[in-house]
Amino acid sequence: MASVGKGYALILFSVFFALIIMGSMAHVAVFDEYWQKRAEEAKKTVREAYHPNPEEVTNHLNIHVHEAISGSNSTRRQLRKYKGPCLATNPIDRCWRCDRKWAKNRKKIADCVLGFGRRTRGGQSGDYYVVTNPSDSDMVHPKPGTLRHAVTRNRPLWIIFARSMIIRLNQELIMTSNKTIDGRGANVLITGGAGITVQFVRNVIIHGIRINNIVQGTGGMIMDAEEHVGLRTMSDGDGISIFGSSDIWIDHVSMSRCYDGLIDAIMGSTAITISNAHFTHHNEVMLFGASDSHSHDQMMQITLAFNHFGQGLVQRMPRCRWGFFHVVNNDYTHWMMYAIGGSKHPTIISQGNRFIAPPLINPKANAQQVTKREYSPESVWKNWLWRSEGDLMMNGAYFVPSGSPKASLPFSKADMISAKPGTYVTRLTRFSGALNCKIGKPC
Ligand SMILES: *[C@@H]1O[C@H](CO)[C@@H](O)[C@H](O)[C@H]1NC(C)=O
Ligand SMILES: *[C@@H]1O[C@H](CO)[C@@H](O)[C@H](O)[C@H]1NC(C)=O
Repeated sequence: MASVGKGYALILFSVFFALIIMGSMAHVAVFDEYWQKRAEEAKKTVREAYHPNPEEVTNHLNIHVHEAISGSNSTRRQLRKYKGPCLATNPIDRCWRCDRKWAKNRKKIADCVLGFGRRTRGGQSGDYYVVTNPSDSDMVHPKPGTLRHAVTRNRPLWIIFARSMIIRLNQELIMTSNKTIDGRGANVLITGGAGITVQFVRNVIIHGIRINNIVQGTGGMIMDAEEHVGLRTMSDGDGISIFGSSDIWIDHVSMSRCYDGLIDAIMGSTAITISNAHFTHHNEVMLFGASDSHSHDQMMQITLAFNHFGQGLVQRMPRCRWGFFHVVNNDYTHWMMYAIGGSKHPTIISQGNRFIAPPLINPKANAQQVTKREYSPESVWKNWLWRSEGDLMMNGAYFVPSGSPKASLPFSKADMISAKPGTYVTRLTRFSGALNCKIGKPC
């Protein structure tokens, strides 16, 4: 009897779980056998991608930052376009950017990722797929040559673009595993339609594209793998939505003005690096963990490095829950409410960033505080580990740290090599955003 009861409970629980996913945010209207399998596999790979000792990864990145010493001490950003010889100012860029044969050796960048997403190889082992057609008219049988056709193929692919193009996605672009979207050599803009969905997959690189003015997709029948078309509910309107996925690297993207978040990572997503991006004109920039009840987000490990959080941003850079977040050498030049926040005891290690507070208009708004805790009294959040090391604070910006200064560090301080100081950040992030790479010349 007992075992029957147990089995029954398990079935009930599974159905319940599937219903929750279905009903809440997965936007999979019919959670059929295909999506159940994809979700199960993703859950397994997410566990594998989770790093039990995150301090080793942060050290790995920090060592590289030290190698890329390039000693400018200016705290102002260059407003004029840089016209000099190729300058790669941070360790990720130094790995590939000034090679004038980059176009012959595109897959090299897959060896350049650092931080928690450092095992990401995207479509490195696959063929090139050249997108020649910017249209996105058929959601069920996408035309060969379109981006939707490329991202739904069953094999690893390195997706590039034949020419500059503007792509309006008719519905969310549902990516499959082992793909790279590489916009170098063309000016690729995804705008005016739905965004990119990275759901229950592993191993995706998105590099060198611009994404702006994304709106919600209405849903409907959408191809989500070569042999599968599924019914989707409305999409959220995120620029890039990462859901239950692992080994993701987003590099040199320029993003602004999306309906929901610019980049959200939720539902147990982990092993993610977001680097060299330029974000502007948006309210809720990044959400890492969608709900205080999603305790599986404890496995979330995300590195934010060398990004420029620029003009017209308001809050959530990022807003975190549960997991481990390494925020290193980013330039925060504009925010209106706060920069980094969260709830549910996330661990936030902020190192060598520059934070420039907004002008003090309303002292009560307290926007000079970099940090914000939500849904918790100080008696609770005082135990969350939020660290600021080597950050450069300007215009009265201040970071409210918490957690025990000694015992509860997730890494030993002796092993921890610190990031470059915040005074180096303008240089480290100088070439953030999509680059104008010309074939035959260094990027
Ligand atoms: C860089 O700036 C910091 C703070 O503004 C200052 O303490 C330091 O001496 C400067 N270093 C150099 C090499 O100019
Ligand atoms: C992705 O590539 C890896 C390594 O080649 C392979 O083991 C895995 O099955 C691929 N995943 C999918 C969903 O194709």
